[in-house]
Amino acid sequence: MSILVVDDEKPIRQLLCDILEIEGYTCVSAADTVEARDYLKKGNIDLILSDINMPGESGLEFVRYVFDQYQDIAAIMVTAMDDPYLAETVFEIGVYDYITKPITRSSVLISVTNALHRRELELSNKAYRDGLENMVAERTISLEKTMDELRKALDGIIHTMALTVEIRDPYTAGHQRRVANLARAIAIEMQLPDKSVEGTYLAGVIHDLGKISIPADILSKPGRLTKNEFNLIKDHPQTGYDILKGIEFPWPIATIILQHHERFDGTGYPQGLSNENTLLEARIISVADVVEAIASHRPYRPALGIEVALEEISNGAGSMYDPKVTGICLKIFSENKFSF
Ligand SMILES: [Fe+2]
Repeated sequence: MSILVVDDEKPIRQLLCDILEIEGYTCVSAADTVEARDYLKKGNIDLILSDINMPGESGLEFVRYVFDQYQDIAAIMVTAMDDPYLAETVFEIGVYDYITKPITRSSVLISVTNALHRRELELSNKAYRDGLENMVAERTISLEKTMDELRKALDGIIHTMALTVEIRDPYTAGHQRRVANLARAIAIEMQLPDKSVEGTYLAGVIHDLGKISIPADILSKPGRLTKNEFNLIKDHPQTGYDILKGIEFPWPIATIILQHHERFDGTGYPQGLSNENTLLEARIISVADVVEAIASHRPYRPALGIEVALEEISNGAGSMYDPKVTGICLKIFSENKFSF
């Protein structure tokens, strides 16, 4: 262990170094803080024993500088005064102990041994804390990477599910994606939380998943559907829900899909729920679904265009469709914030 003694009185420096060297410590000494700083620059100092009252910079100022520049060095003050207020000050700035003159061998050795022991404990504590912080940082990065991979896998699975329906039903190919895009734009305009916007979008991407159970010739039938055929179509929200309900998504995707054909006044299907009993995400998809379906080509009719679609939701706001969601949808089209 290397100890730096700073004192303007040569006999004191000599005495302290003699006491320390006999005990096996390496001791260097400086007559003032300028010389002391030179020793510090050379490195390898573990502990400083510094006088307080010296010509020029005081020992307290010097020690403050040391603590600021060299966090691993410990310090003990050596003073002629036995002043309790002084003791308070030195402890406040982080000095471990102070020795009053006249110095004795035992007081120096007890103080130095304690200070070095405490310094060792603090250094090992610091190393442990740093190690812990590094470990937490590394684990956080690895967790974020895993979350990112999972999210990408989830996105991939949802888009693959969407393709499965669309391959069987070419007339609605792209319908789900366009509905999802519009639903997301509405959710963003409504300033929903990011998680809800994401859930709305992903539910939109697979909102017609349940159509997988409907015979392809009914889905692409050019003419009017019979009552029985329409009843089969009306099963698709429930089928979609049944397929997805066992999967623990971070969003209520199964329920959103179950409710995407419910209407404001309770005249929708499959449960006939009224507005306040449905999820906002489902009401958003319901409006986006109607707009996209009317604006686009269907097996039984050509595309009617966006103007007709917006007129339909405008007329149905407050009876068929959530008026707030409808208002936002009309707003984003009128402000050219969205187009298919
Ligand atoms: Fe649907």
